[in-house]
Amino acid sequence: MSNFPQRPHAVIYDTDPGVDDAMALYYALAHPEIELLGVTTTFGNVTVDQAATNALYLLALAGRADIAVTRGVAAPLVKHAEAPPAHIHGADGLGNLPQRQPFDNRLDPRSSAQFIVDMARARPGEITLVPVGPLGNLALALDMEPRLPQLLRAVVLMGGAVLEPGNVSPVAEANIWNDPHAADKVFCAGFDLTMVGLDVTHQVILPVSLFADMAAHHQHPAMHTLHHAVDFYAGFYSGLYPHVAEIHGCFGHDVLAFVALTDPHLFEYESGAVRVAVDGLGQGQTMLRRKSISYPQSGWEGPASRACMQVQAQACKDLIKSTLMRDWIRP
Ligand code: BDR
Ligand code: CA
Repeated sequence: MSNFPQRPHAVIYDTDPGVDDAMALYYALAHPEIELLGVTTTFGNVTVDQAATNALYLLALAGRADIAVTRGVAAPLVKHAEAPPAHIHGADGLGNLPQRQPFDNRLDPRSSAQFIVDMARARPGEITLVPVGPLGNLALALDMEPRLPQLLRAVVLMGGAVLEPGNVSPVAEANIWNDPHAADKVFCAGFDLTMVGLDVTHQVILPVSLFADMAAHHQHPAMHTLHHAVDFYAGFYSGLYPHVAEIHGCFGHDVLAFVALTDPHLFEYESGAVRVAVDGLGQGQTMLRRKSISYPQSGWEGPASRACMQVQAQACKDLIKSTLMRDWIRP
């Protein structure tokens, strides 16, 4: 018998770590209601090889080398790949760590898409996918298994923006812009889908001091690593947004997807079909159909998604803190 009680949210985490991805990974490991079944990686904040290395490393540091890690797509489905944003996440994706400890966990040989399909078929209706990078792995998984929207319990993704301006163009959020064709396919597929976009992630500013406190509390390499990475990442955001600089903080982006999974009552939602602009100056824009208006164009008849529009920011911060302060790191 397992020493760990049954957890209500069985999750596959699809990620491009990335500093806020690392924060979200540790939140998922620390949260008592999340069972992390695997980490599927993609290009995005770093190359896919670096993303996979970082996922293995972060898990090993936290004593969770038992969790499967896969390597996924290396480039967008259609458009050319952009250079990774080393100025935001560091060239290594974790704020340019001065050194790394040795680790010996290895990749699961399956592709990320294959892993998602295998797990969904093995546990139909049970698994929630939490993607927080470009959506190519999920788009490929859909090609491999068209019943995926029925086989997965839900998708809770970080990406997009409805009313909030974009962060890579006036209208596009980075994850969607990095692979707009994949994103449009995912939004049209019929998943039970929650979109946690910039409308809410820009409302939750996490001070570096929060991570300093956590590192001091745990006195463990996993949290020292996270603190280092967040400090670097906050340098970028503080340079860009004066109100973030005031508290030397950053946006938690990806961790908010897990908060929306565990504590959906902290958010307000708007539902409607979401479509993604795949080219032109608006490339990567996520457009939400308002139900009350009858539009003359075709293309809006697809399934509805749930977009997070408002969030109780202080409650989120308190939850992130209390979760990561738990005794969750394994020896
Ligand atoms: C998203 O882009 C990446 O830089 C972050 O990890 C997050 O997933 C925010 O736009
Ligand atoms: Ca990410």
